[in-house]
Amino acid sequence: MSNLKRNGQLRWSPSYLRNRGQITRSQKRALRQWWPLYGISFRHDEVIRLDEHFNQNGPLVIEIGFGAGDHLVSLAKALPDHRILGIEVHRPGLAATTQKIHNAGITNARLMRGDARLILTDHLADRIADAFTIQFPDPWPKAGDAHRRLIQPGMVNVIAERLLPDGELLVITDVDAYAAHTSEVMSSVKNWTPTSYSRFNKHRIETNYEKKALAESRQISELSFQLKL
Ligand SMILES: C[S@@+](CC[C@H](N)C(=O)[O-])C[C@H]1O[C@@H](n2cnc3c(N)ncnc32)[C@H](O)[C@@H]1O
Repeated sequence: MSNLKRNGQLRWSPSYLRNRGQITRSQKRALRQWWPLYGISFRHDEVIRLDEHFNQNGPLVIEIGFGAGDHLVSLAKALPDHRILGIEVHRPGLAATTQKIHNAGITNARLMRGDARLILTDHLADRIADAFTIQFPDPWPKAGDAHRRLIQPGMVNVIAERLLPDGELLVITDVDAYAAHTSEVMSSVKNWTPTSYSRFNKHRIETNYEKKALAESRQISELSFQLKL
């Protein structure tokens, strides 16, 4: 079950940087205080039932790699009748986001910590999500690092196993090579159709990451796909 290694070998190449900044004392405090309310902890062999963690029903949107959580919090505010589940590896980001959820008085967002692929494979089950959103995945711009990009056929197939029919995958990137890579991967896997419209795109806000990309004149690509079973 849950382990990045199987038989001593990595199951896939991690798509994130391991040491991205130190957690501050106030972030540690936020985690201690708010994780029990907004975080979902799990044992290495546990499959989570989300209805035991959300206090409401409603469509489920999963944001992978939410960083400092600004988009996640704004989505949860814009869609109070939806459940928003964030998955992130980075502890400072998780801490900052618990604090933002609390400050905004949001009750429809929950967080899981870990590699999204591991969580989707080992800790969630069934077709549960109406949409996945992945905003500015780590770029891995060098050709030799492309195997570390989050969007890979294996990952997309795992996402497809957790999506409801007609569910949506939204990928936003400021790296032209990543946009091309995403289109290529999506056309290589079964059951996905590119769409020109995303129900969730209109709720997008500019995160600090996006502001920096725009300031550096990088073009933002918004790619959306629907699962057609
Ligand atoms: C470039 S940052 C963008 C953050 C945020 N989406 C934004 O727009 O500001 C990418 C984020 O994805 C997270 N990430 C990368 N691979 C991941 C994975 N496999 N599972 C969960 N989070 C991941 C990283 O930790 C990082 O916080």
